[in-house]
Amino acid sequence: MTGTAPTALPLLRVRGLEKKFATTDPPTRVLEGIDLDVRRGEFLAIMGASGSGKSTLLYSVSGMDRPTAGTVELDGDELTTLGDRTLSAIRLTRMGFVFQQARFLENLSVRDNVLLPALRAGKLGARQAEATVDGLLERFGIAHIAHHGVTEASGGQLQRASLARALATDPAIVFADEPTGALDSAMTREVLDALTDVHADGTTILLVTHDPVCAARAERLIRLRDGVIAAEREQGLWAPEDEGARERGVLDWLAHHDFRQQPGSGRGEVFDG
Ligand SMILES: Nc1ncnc2c1ncn2[C@@H]1O[C@H](COP(=O)(O)OP(=O)(O)OP(=O)(O)O)[C@@H](O)[C@H]1O
Ligand SMILES: [Mg+2]
Repeated sequence: MTGTAPTALPLLRVRGLEKKFATTDPPTRVLEGIDLDVRRGEFLAIMGASGSGKSTLLYSVSGMDRPTAGTVELDGDELTTLGDRTLSAIRLTRMGFVFQQARFLENLSVRDNVLLPALRAGKLGARQAEATVDGLLERFGIAHIAHHGVTEASGGQLQRASLARALATDPAIVFADEPTGALDSAMTREVLDALTDVHADGTTILLVTHDPVCAARAERLIRLRDGVIAAEREQGLWAPEDEGARERGVLDWLAHHDFRQQPGSGRGEVFDG
Protein backbone atom coordinates (compact mmCIF):
# COMPACT_ATOMS: atom_id res chain seq x y z
CA MET A 1 0.00 0.00 0.00
CA THR A 2 1.27 3.43 -0.85
CA GLY A 3 -1.07 5.24 1.47
CA THR A 4 -2.97 6.97 -1.32
CA ALA A 5 -6.68 6.27 -1.55
CA PRO A 6 -7.59 4.01 -4.46
CA THR A 7 -9.15 6.03 -7.25
CA ALA A 8 -12.25 4.67 -8.92
CA LEU A 9 -11.58 3.47 -12.46
CA PRO A 10 -13.05 5.98 -14.89
CA LEU A 11 -15.57 4.55 -17.31
CA LEU A 12 -13.68 6.04 -20.24
CA ARG A 13 -9.93 6.68 -20.02
CA VAL A 14 -8.27 8.45 -22.94
CA ARG A 15 -4.50 9.04 -23.07
CA GLY A 16 -2.34 10.77 -25.64
CA LEU A 17 -5.08 10.67 -28.26
CA GLU A 18 -4.03 12.01 -31.63
CA LYS A 19 -5.87 12.11 -34.91
CA LYS A 20 -4.61 13.40 -38.19
CA PHE A 21 -6.11 13.05 -41.64
CA ALA A 22 -3.56 12.16 -44.30
CA THR A 23 -6.06 12.80 -47.10
CA THR A 24 -5.00 16.46 -47.25
CA ASP A 25 -1.57 17.93 -48.05
CA PRO A 26 -0.25 18.81 -45.56
CA PRO A 27 -2.13 16.33 -43.32
CA THR A 28 -4.84 17.88 -41.11
CA ARG A 29 -3.78 17.48 -37.49
CA VAL A 30 -7.04 17.60 -35.56
CA LEU A 31 -6.32 16.06 -32.14
CA GLU A 32 -2.82 16.62 -30.81
CA GLY A 33 -2.70 14.80 -27.50
CA ILE A 34 -5.93 14.49 -25.56
CA ASP A 35 -5.94 13.09 -22.02
CA LEU A 36 -9.46 12.68 -20.69
CA ASP A 37 -11.25 10.65 -18.04
CA VAL A 38 -15.01 10.32 -18.09
CA ARG A 39 -16.28 9.29 -14.68
CA ARG A 40 -18.92 6.62 -14.25
CA GLY A 41 -22.31 8.33 -14.35
CA GLU A 42 -20.87 11.65 -15.44
CA PHE A 43 -22.51 14.04 -17.92
CA LEU A 44 -19.65 15.67 -19.81
CA ALA A 45 -20.01 18.21 -22.61
CA ILE A 46 -17.30 18.86 -25.19
CA MET A 47 -17.39 22.38 -26.60
CA GLY A 48 -15.34 24.17 -29.20
CA ALA A 49 -15.70 26.17 -32.38
CA SER A 50 -16.74 24.57 -35.63
CA GLY A 51 -13.81 22.54 -36.95
CA SER A 52 -12.11 22.29 -33.54
CA GLY A 53 -12.38 18.49 -33.62
CA LYS A 54 -15.35 17.77 -31.35
CA SER A 55 -16.87 15.17 -33.65
CA THR A 56 -13.46 13.73 -34.44
CA LEU A 57 -12.87 13.26 -30.71
CA LEU A 58 -16.25 11.59 -30.25
CA TYR A 59 -15.65 9.26 -33.23
CA SER A 60 -12.12 8.43 -32.05
CA VAL A 61 -13.11 7.48 -28.50
CA SER A 62 -16.22 5.55 -29.52
CA GLY A 63 -14.52 3.30 -32.04
CA MET A 64 -16.30 4.85 -35.01
CA ASP A 65 -12.96 6.00 -36.33
CA ARG A 66 -9.37 4.95 -35.60
CA PRO A 67 -7.15 7.42 -33.76
CA THR A 68 -3.65 7.96 -35.16
CA ALA A 69 -2.07 7.49 -31.71
CA GLY A 70 -3.06 7.07 -28.10
CA THR A 71 -5.21 4.74 -26.04
CA VAL A 72 -8.90 4.55 -25.22
CA GLU A 73 -10.11 2.30 -22.42
CA LEU A 74 -13.78 1.60 -21.84
CA ASP A 75 -14.24 0.11 -18.38
CA GLY A 76 -10.62 -1.06 -18.49
CA ASP A 77 -10.84 -2.58 -21.98
CA GLU A 78 -8.42 -1.08 -24.49
CA LEU A 79 -10.34 -0.33 -27.68
CA THR A 80 -7.75 0.97 -30.13
CA THR A 81 -6.12 -2.42 -30.69
CA LEU A 82 -9.36 -4.32 -31.31
CA GLY A 83 -10.45 -5.62 -34.69
CA ASP A 84 -13.42 -4.14 -36.50
CA ARG A 85 -15.83 -6.94 -35.59
CA THR A 86 -15.08 -6.82 -31.88
CA LEU A 87 -15.30 -3.05 -31.93
CA SER A 88 -18.67 -3.17 -33.71
CA ALA A 89 -19.96 -5.59 -31.09
CA ILE A 90 -18.80 -3.25 -28.31
CA ARG A 91 -20.49 -0.29 -30.00
CA LEU A 92 -23.71 -2.26 -30.28
CA THR A 93 -23.82 -3.62 -26.73
CA ARG A 94 -21.98 -1.06 -24.61
CA MET A 95 -22.42 2.29 -26.37
CA GLY A 96 -25.44 4.30 -27.43
CA PHE A 97 -25.36 7.01 -30.11
CA VAL A 98 -27.47 10.05 -30.86
CA PHE A 99 -26.56 12.28 -33.80
CA GLN A 100 -27.83 15.59 -35.13
CA GLN A 101 -29.62 13.84 -37.99
CA ALA A 102 -31.06 10.57 -36.73
CA ARG A 103 -31.24 7.85 -39.35
CA PHE A 104 -34.25 5.59 -39.28
CA LEU A 105 -35.54 2.86 -41.53
CA GLU A 106 -38.51 4.46 -43.21
CA ASN A 107 -40.36 1.22 -43.82
CA LEU A 108 -40.44 0.46 -40.08
CA SER A 109 -42.54 2.05 -37.34
CA VAL A 110 -40.98 4.25 -34.67
CA ARG A 111 -41.24 1.35 -32.22
CA ASP A 112 -39.60 -1.18 -34.52
CA ASN A 113 -36.76 1.22 -35.26
CA VAL A 114 -36.11 1.56 -31.53
CA LEU A 115 -36.48 -2.18 -30.99
CA LEU A 116 -34.16 -3.37 -33.74
CA PRO A 117 -30.77 -2.66 -32.11
CA ALA A 118 -32.04 -3.95 -28.77
CA LEU A 119 -32.84 -7.29 -30.43
CA ARG A 120 -29.54 -7.30 -32.31
CA ALA A 121 -27.60 -6.56 -29.11
CA GLY A 122 -29.10 -9.76 -27.72
CA LYS A 123 -28.84 -8.81 -24.07
CA LEU A 124 -32.56 -9.29 -23.54
CA GLY A 125 -35.06 -11.80 -24.85
CA ALA A 126 -37.60 -10.49 -27.36
CA ARG A 127 -40.36 -10.01 -24.77
CA GLN A 128 -38.07 -8.14 -22.38
CA ALA A 129 -36.66 -6.01 -25.18
CA GLU A 130 -40.19 -5.06 -26.25
CA ALA A 131 -41.14 -4.18 -22.68
CA THR A 132 -37.98 -2.07 -22.33
CA VAL A 133 -38.68 -0.24 -25.57
CA ASP A 134 -42.33 0.40 -24.67
CA GLY A 135 -41.17 1.77 -21.31
CA LEU A 136 -38.70 4.13 -23.00
CA LEU A 137 -41.26 5.39 -25.52
CA GLU A 138 -43.66 6.07 -22.65
CA ARG A 139 -40.97 7.79 -20.61
CA PHE A 140 -40.01 10.10 -23.48
CA GLY A 141 -43.62 10.97 -24.31
CA ILE A 142 -43.74 9.26 -27.70
CA ALA A 143 -45.76 6.11 -26.91
CA HIS A 144 -48.67 7.52 -28.90
CA ILE A 145 -46.63 7.49 -32.11
CA ALA A 146 -45.06 4.05 -31.49
CA HIS A 147 -46.84 2.50 -34.44
CA HIS A 148 -46.57 5.48 -36.74
CA GLY A 149 -44.08 5.65 -39.54
CA VAL A 150 -40.97 7.70 -38.81
CA THR A 151 -41.83 10.16 -41.59
CA GLU A 152 -44.89 11.23 -39.60
CA ALA A 153 -42.90 12.16 -36.48
CA SER A 154 -41.59 15.66 -35.69
CA GLY A 155 -37.87 16.39 -35.38
CA GLY A 156 -38.11 16.51 -31.59
CA GLN A 157 -40.04 13.24 -31.46
CA LEU A 158 -37.46 11.60 -33.70
CA GLN A 159 -34.61 12.76 -31.49
CA ARG A 160 -36.38 11.34 -28.45
CA ALA A 161 -36.90 8.10 -30.39
CA SER A 162 -33.22 8.21 -31.22
CA LEU A 163 -32.38 8.54 -27.52
CA ALA A 164 -34.77 5.65 -26.72
CA ARG A 165 -33.01 3.56 -29.38
CA ALA A 166 -29.63 4.41 -27.88
CA LEU A 167 -30.82 3.38 -24.40
CA ALA A 168 -32.73 0.24 -25.38
CA THR A 169 -29.50 -1.76 -25.46
CA ASP A 170 -28.68 -0.63 -21.89
CA PRO A 171 -25.33 0.92 -22.86
CA ALA A 172 -22.58 1.90 -20.43
CA ILE A 173 -22.25 5.29 -22.13
CA VAL A 174 -24.29 7.46 -24.49
CA PHE A 175 -22.43 9.56 -27.08
CA ALA A 176 -24.45 12.49 -28.41
CA ASP A 177 -23.13 14.72 -31.22
CA GLU A 178 -25.14 17.96 -31.50
CA PRO A 179 -28.39 16.07 -30.76
CA THR A 180 -30.39 19.29 -30.80
CA GLY A 181 -28.47 20.96 -33.63
CA ALA A 182 -31.40 20.75 -36.05
CA LEU A 183 -34.18 21.57 -33.57
CA ASP A 184 -35.99 24.75 -32.56
CA SER A 185 -35.76 25.85 -28.93
CA ALA A 186 -38.99 24.12 -27.77
CA MET A 187 -37.90 20.79 -29.24
CA THR A 188 -34.38 21.33 -27.93
CA ARG A 189 -35.79 21.61 -24.44
CA GLU A 190 -37.76 18.35 -24.83
CA VAL A 191 -34.65 16.50 -25.90
CA LEU A 192 -32.49 18.09 -23.18
CA ASP A 193 -35.09 17.18 -20.54
CA ALA A 194 -34.97 13.58 -21.75
CA LEU A 195 -31.16 13.58 -21.69
CA THR A 196 -31.08 15.14 -18.23
CA ASP A 197 -33.54 12.53 -16.98
CA VAL A 198 -31.41 9.72 -18.41
CA HIS A 199 -28.35 11.13 -16.68
CA ALA A 200 -30.22 11.43 -13.38
CA ASP A 201 -30.87 7.71 -13.72
CA GLY A 202 -27.15 7.01 -13.73
CA THR A 203 -26.25 6.84 -17.42
CA THR A 204 -22.88 8.27 -18.44
CA ILE A 205 -23.23 10.84 -21.22
CA LEU A 206 -20.64 12.42 -23.48
CA LEU A 207 -22.27 15.30 -25.34
CA VAL A 208 -20.72 17.32 -28.14
CA THR A 209 -22.26 20.76 -28.54
CA HIS A 210 -21.50 24.35 -29.36
CA ASP A 211 -24.77 25.52 -27.80
CA PRO A 212 -24.52 26.94 -24.24
CA VAL A 213 -28.16 25.95 -23.65
CA CYS A 214 -27.16 22.30 -24.08
CA ALA A 215 -23.86 22.65 -22.26
CA ALA A 216 -25.68 24.10 -19.24
CA ARG A 217 -27.14 20.63 -18.60
CA ALA A 218 -23.78 18.89 -18.24
CA GLU A 219 -21.85 18.44 -14.99
CA ARG A 220 -18.52 19.24 -16.57
CA LEU A 221 -17.43 21.08 -19.69
CA ILE A 222 -14.24 20.82 -21.66
CA ARG A 223 -13.29 23.15 -24.43
CA LEU A 224 -11.25 22.00 -27.42
CA ARG A 225 -8.91 24.36 -29.18
CA ASP A 226 -5.90 23.76 -31.41
CA GLY A 227 -6.18 20.01 -30.93
CA VAL A 228 -5.97 20.01 -27.14
CA ILE A 229 -8.22 20.52 -24.14
CA ALA A 230 -7.81 24.24 -23.59
CA ALA A 231 -10.18 24.73 -20.65
CA GLU A 232 -12.36 22.78 -18.24
CA ARG A 233 -15.29 23.72 -16.02
CA GLU A 234 -17.00 21.74 -13.24
CA GLN A 235 -20.53 22.97 -12.71
CA GLY A 236 -22.24 20.27 -10.62
CA LEU A 237 -25.63 18.70 -11.15
CA TRP A 238 -28.27 20.56 -13.13
CA ALA A 239 -31.50 21.66 -11.45
CA PRO A 240 -34.37 23.34 -13.34
CA GLU A 241 -34.35 26.40 -11.05
CA ASP A 242 -30.68 27.03 -11.93
CA GLU A 243 -31.28 27.12 -15.67
CA GLY A 244 -30.71 30.85 -16.25
CA ALA A 245 -27.73 31.07 -13.93
CA ARG A 246 -26.10 28.05 -15.52
CA GLU A 247 -26.49 29.35 -19.04
CA ARG A 248 -24.94 32.65 -17.96
CA GLY A 249 -22.17 30.71 -16.22
CA VAL A 250 -21.38 28.81 -19.42
CA LEU A 251 -21.36 32.03 -21.46
CA ASP A 252 -19.06 33.74 -18.92
CA TRP A 253 -16.71 30.76 -18.98
CA LEU A 254 -16.63 30.78 -22.76
CA ALA A 255 -16.01 34.53 -22.80
CA HIS A 256 -13.06 34.05 -20.45
CA HIS A 257 -11.64 31.45 -22.80
CA ASP A 258 -11.60 33.50 -25.97
CA PHE A 259 -14.97 32.62 -27.32
CA ARG A 260 -17.27 35.30 -28.54
CA GLN A 261 -20.96 35.09 -29.20
CA GLN A 262 -22.07 35.21 -32.78
CA PRO A 263 -23.47 38.73 -33.27
CA GLY A 264 -27.24 38.65 -33.24
CA SER A 265 -27.40 34.95 -32.43
CA GLY A 266 -30.24 34.32 -30.00
CA ARG A 267 -28.84 30.90 -29.15
CA GLY A 268 -25.34 32.14 -28.38
CA GLU A 269 -23.49 29.62 -30.50
CA VAL A 270 -19.78 29.87 -29.96
CA PHE A 271 -16.97 30.79 -32.26
CA ASP A 272 -13.30 31.29 -31.64
CA GLY A 273 -12.63 34.97 -31.11
N1 LIG B 1 -12.43 12.55 -42.97
C1 LIG B 1 -11.76 13.71 -42.89
N2 LIG B 1 -10.75 13.98 -43.75
C2 LIG B 1 -10.05 15.14 -43.68
N3 LIG B 1 -10.29 16.09 -42.75
C3 LIG B 1 -11.28 15.88 -41.88
C4 LIG B 1 -12.08 14.68 -41.89
N4 LIG B 1 -13.00 14.76 -40.90
C5 LIG B 1 -12.78 15.94 -40.28
N5 LIG B 1 -11.76 16.61 -40.87
C6 LIG B 1 -11.24 17.93 -40.46
O1 LIG B 1 -10.95 17.88 -39.07
C7 LIG B 1 -11.27 19.11 -38.43
C8 LIG B 1 -12.23 18.87 -37.28
O2 LIG B 1 -13.49 18.43 -37.78
P1 LIG B 1 -14.68 18.02 -36.82
O3 LIG B 1 -15.80 17.58 -37.69
O4 LIG B 1 -14.21 17.06 -35.80
O5 LIG B 1 -15.01 19.41 -36.12
P2 LIG B 1 -16.21 19.80 -35.15
O6 LIG B 1 -15.62 20.49 -33.97
O7 LIG B 1 -17.07 18.62 -34.90
O8 LIG B 1 -16.99 20.90 -36.04
P3 LIG B 1 -18.58 21.22 -36.15
O9 LIG B 1 -18.93 22.05 -34.93
O10 LIG B 1 -18.68 22.02 -37.41
O11 LIG B 1 -19.33 19.93 -36.20
C9 LIG B 1 -11.82 20.02 -39.52
O12 LIG B 1 -10.76 20.80 -39.98
C10 LIG B 1 -12.25 19.04 -40.60
O13 LIG B 1 -12.18 19.64 -41.86
MG1 LIG C 1 -19.05 18.15 -35.41
